Amino acid sequence: MNVYIETGTYTGDTLYRANFPVKYSIEYDYNLFLYCKNRFIKDDNVTMIHGDSGEILEDLLLVTPNPAFVFLDASTSTTSVLIEELEAIMKLSGNYYTIAFDKSTIGKTGKYGEITLEFIQTLVSSVYFVVIYGGSTVMLIQKSGSERSASECSSSDSL
Ligand SMILES: C[S@@+](CC[C@H](N)C(=O)[O-])C[C@H]1O[C@@H](n2cnc3c(N)ncnc32)[C@H](O)[C@@H]1O
Repeated sequence: MNVYIETGTYTGDTLYRANFPVKYSIEYDYNLFLYCKNRFIKDDNVTMIHGDSGEILEDLLLVTPNPAFVFLDASTSTTSVLIEELEAIMKLSGNYYTIAFDKSTIGKTGKYGEITLEFIQTLVSSVYFVVIYGGSTVMLIQKSGSERSASECSSSDSL
């Protein structure tokens, strides 16, 4: 997998460590965005994007290659746009992504109130297995063949 996509850059430490040939990160806070843009200014493989990932992740996914590893980490201490991001990804379920987010996102306030693991499982279950690694990272692993069946569904829906 060659492409890393991150939401919520903060100061860019995970972006720096992510060992991928091509990397994108979205940060909402303008000062943090500028800090990271400057931090990675010499890294041609890093693209920094300023904005709300709940609104612009879908547009980014539409113009980036896949398969990609997607780290959904855009949050404050109490809120997260994880649900908006997952809804955007599910619209593109003909593409191939491996997704991770921090388990501490569970319990934060999201689009429909408190974010629960059960809600996420229901939202993604047609395409992803939900796996919790090491107690702190939740991984969404794409089910084999789901990208083909998702495309078949959307093409027959539009007939
Ligand atoms: C937990 S920190 C990210 C840490 C970073 N991924 C790392 O591993 O070093 C969360 C970041 O998400 C940003 N953020 C919060 N809401 C956001 C949104 N809607 N879109 C993009 N970034 C957001 C915050 O400004 C903060 O920098």
